[in-house]
Amino acid sequence: MAWSLLIRNGTVVDGSGAPARAADVAVEGERIAAVGPGLAGEAARVIDATGLMVAPGFIDAHSHSDLVYDKCPSAESKVRQGVTTEVVGMCSFSPAPVAPGRAALVQEWAGGIGGKIPITWNSFGEYLDHLRGLGPTVNIAQFVGHGALRLAAVGPDARPVAPDEQRGMERLLAEALGGGAFGFSTGLVYAPSVYGSTDELVSLARSMATRRGLYFSHIRGEAATLEQAAEEAIRIGEQGGVPVQIAHVKASGRENWGKMDRVLRMIDGARARGVDVTGDVYPYPAGSTKMDNLLPAWMHDGGIGKLLERLTDPKARQRAIADCLVDGERWRTGSGGMGWDEIMIATCSKPELAGIHLAELARRTGKEPAQAMMDLVLEERAGVSMVVFSQSEDNVGTALSYAHTMVGSDSLSLHAGAGPHPGKPHPRSYGTFPRVLGVYCREKRLFSWETAVHKMTGMAATKLGLKDRGLLQAGRAADVTLFDPATVSDAATFADPHRYPIGIPYVIVNGHVVMDG
Ligand code: ZN
Ligand code: CU
Repeated sequence: MAWSLLIRNGTVVDGSGAPARAADVAVEGERIAAVGPGLAGEAARVIDATGLMVAPGFIDAHSHSDLVYDKCPSAESKVRQGVTTEVVGMCSFSPAPVAPGRAALVQEWAGGIGGKIPITWNSFGEYLDHLRGLGPTVNIAQFVGHGALRLAAVGPDARPVAPDEQRGMERLLAEALGGGAFGFSTGLVYAPSVYGSTDELVSLARSMATRRGLYFSHIRGEAATLEQAAEEAIRIGEQGGVPVQIAHVKASGRENWGKMDRVLRMIDGARARGVDVTGDVYPYPAGSTKMDNLLPAWMHDGGIGKLLERLTDPKARQRAIADCLVDGERWRTGSGGMGWDEIMIATCSKPELAGIHLAELARRTGKEPAQAMMDLVLEERAGVSMVVFSQSEDNVGTALSYAHTMVGSDSLSLHAGAGPHPGKPHPRSYGTFPRVLGVYCREKRLFSWETAVHKMTGMAATKLGLKDRGLLQAGRAADVTLFDPATVSDAATFADPHRYPIGIPYVIVNGHVVMDG
């Protein structure tokens, strides 16, 4: 018997959570041929994995790379972490479907996160054909964004849907599922998803229940309304009859840090009632999104053009300040209350601003911080991303250790150098998976290697219904990641994010060795 690849002398952590064991892994073409001790056979290539752990390729359970595959199909910042599959179309954002004549609207809506997407499609299926044509390095599980559904069927306005529009969204969702979507996602703090009512979402969920569509939710608040928001997400799954994923489980704003345990108990309670609720977590106490999301939902009514128009109106600015400024010094949104020194400019057209806090921007410009922020959003036509330090490190550990959370980076695939996202983007694009392994598993000992790998592989595959990935098992797709448990570490930092991790020497996607030494 001649295999295409034999990985010898490694310690297999198979993704199921079962104890690690000494075993070899044989690959034939795109599939795993055998897993077992002392495999004897000829192979075109042998990798010596002495001292290394051999795991299934990691599944990034929450990614926004669909907004940048056009610029970065190599997905290098993910592949170098050991990621072989990305779950994209999250937080209500997806590049499809697009209603005829609304490409520009979709472009400026999704644009600030990943830059402009060259939209040449309407249907979800046409978009997937385009995506296949790019030949991305990783496998992709694409969701359809509720925001995209709403832009296509309703438009950018802040209003309830009419019955025919609801049917229109359900038709587009069915079409997307038929084309290969795994379900739909919401971003209930982002326009236009934020304008959707619970009933609208239950109805959308119900419409895909028989096809085992999944509901992945950035919930309607991760701060003051955290518990109600988690309850709503669970209710949508329960009444809609579909599995739920709570995106990037967190408690934002120090006044809300105490709520983390209660949210995890709510998930326990729902699971005990038979609702399939899980969550994803990234291993950092800071989040990242577009800076215009600091502005209240009413300012976004009608789309980015309208938002920019309102930003030129001093009265609208005063109203935003009245809505959001607390005690004259903290800015509070659905994502929590933040000090101006906790909000960092990540990427915009002025490289010299990347990495500075809004407090510093205010000092440099001699403006009130809120005005400096709104001026920046206006000047950059909303194309500014930010990093927000609003979570507690203890909660990050608690959420990561919880039995029903998997690892999701909530980030873009980038590459060092002149990548699609210059400046100081959140280091999670480069460091999520090695950071969970190196910091939370090896250093803090919050969980075992087996559990860490399970959260990156088998757990996500089960949630997604992927029958041929997520476990190292004969017959499954040959997605394999080899890492050194003694050294695996993230290198990317908030100050210096474009740095690849260390200790992950081999990554194999569908039998191809894409990271080789
Ligand atoms: Zn989100
Ligand atoms: Cu996200």
